[in-house]
Amino acid sequence: MSAKRSRLWRGGLVFVLAWVLPQAPSASFAQLIAQGEQLFNNETFGGNGRTCATCHVAAQSFGLTPAGIATLFASSPTDPLFIAETDPVLATLENSCLMRMGNTRGLILENIDGFSLPPNFRNSPHLFNLASTAPYGLSGEFADLKLFSTGAVMQHFTKTMARNAGADFTLPTAGELNALEAFMNSITFPADGNPDLNRMIAFAIAQGGDATAIAAGQALFFGPQAQCSTCHSGPVLADADGSLGTGTGNLAFDTGVVNLPANLDDGCSGGPGDPTLPLPAEDAGTRRFSTPALVGVNLTAPFFHDNSVSSLLLAVNFYDSAEFAASPAAALLPAPIVINFAQQNQIVAFLEAISVDPSVGLGLPALSTEAALLLVALLLLSATLLGVVQRRRTRH
Ligand code: HEC
Ligand code: HEC
Repeated sequence: MSAKRSRLWRGGLVFVLAWVLPQAPSASFAQLIAQGEQLFNNETFGGNGRTCATCHVAAQSFGLTPAGIATLFASSPTDPLFIAETDPVLATLENSCLMRMGNTRGLILENIDGFSLPPNFRNSPHLFNLASTAPYGLSGEFADLKLFSTGAVMQHFTKTMARNAGADFTLPTAGELNALEAFMNSITFPADGNPDLNRMIAFAIAQGGDATAIAAGQALFFGPQAQCSTCHSGPVLADADGSLGTGTGNLAFDTGVVNLPANLDDGCSGGPGDPTLPLPAEDAGTRRFSTPALVGVNLTAPFFHDNSVSSLLLAVNFYDSAEFAASPAAALLPAPIVINFAQQNQIVAFLEAISVDPSVGLGLPALSTEAALLLVALLLLSATLLGVVQRRRTRH
């Protein structure tokens, strides 16, 4: 091999290794993730037939939308999601009206305050970027994903309302919890795990996004008028920046969502002689909810913990509402949030821009671990063979 060709070879090898190696987690960690994915999608933990994927659907950003529920009910009304409608023993496991009738809000029954106390109704959230958003649960009551997963089995998988571990479901083992955690932590947006805002914005603009509106929205988001970043800062916009004096990190606030007009009628009462009732308010309406990440937010409608708002514009508009202004969260801000309609649209343009994945379909394809290892092996093999040929030639 000429010196020039061997330099080329080495250059090529270094390039390919630099592409492949960062993508390839260690083989055993990749196996753990694969095991977790398998459990997440298929394991029923000896329960009523539900799996984690019953309510965290990959095609719905690992959440469950009201439209997704309606489609599923139309095709499979006996799916375990609807077990409260088909198994009389589990009639109180869900409130089917709040799940798929009434206001079609897609709400799931959660015993946040304990199994003996009145339940709460929440959406099944997306699972993007969980590694950056502990503590878990929409009001942040679980420290880690293992505790959360065990709680999810007890809450959603039981065969009877007695919820006896061993009889009504089997608790996940430590190994299963490790695998579930590894899998859930691998669910990122963007898919390559790099939530750099400027990269996403540049990509969105290259795809036709309105650069002026996005820049104006970004400035508002991080500026003193809209004050969004006081609560939504950090790598995925889920962390308080500390300026409110409540600390930093992923914090919970009572922003007054519970008082939205949409929540004053749950859509499920009002039959003959039955008064219109509000959606049951958590903790008498004083519950604080965990600040959600906003990277990828446009893929996770409807919004807020109770799916009370259908569009991103209405979610941003909420911060200019009387309900937010009267909330304990607003009282923490140095000044009221006042943003006009044009500004709300600019903030939406910014949030839409950070919901386009720049790592999909651009540049070099992502590789599976198997493909990456195979490629490295092939390269090393051909480099060795070439070396052998080269040595033979020089001997002649
Ligand atoms: C019947 C529907 C349903 C099933 C089945 C279900 N979940 Fe959930 N999941 C929800 C709901 C509703 C919430 C919101 C609960 C809360 O706020 O505490 C949630 C929240 C979560 C969260 C918290 C996300 C965050 O942003 O903090 C994680 C993690 C999670 N689920 C994992 C799982 C795992 C793992 C399983 C399987 C063992 C599972 N879920 C099964 C409905 C479900
Ligand atoms: C005081 C803290 C705080 C401020 C300030 C704040 N947010 Fe939020 N944000 C929250 C909390 C807490 C929630 C969850 C509320 C709920 O689910 O009930 C939330 C939810 C959201 C959601 C819904 C996300 C989802 O997945 O459902 C959007 C969108 C959002 N905020 C955008 C903004 C914008 C834009 C601003 C500035 C105009 C802003 N936020 C200001 C704390 C805050």
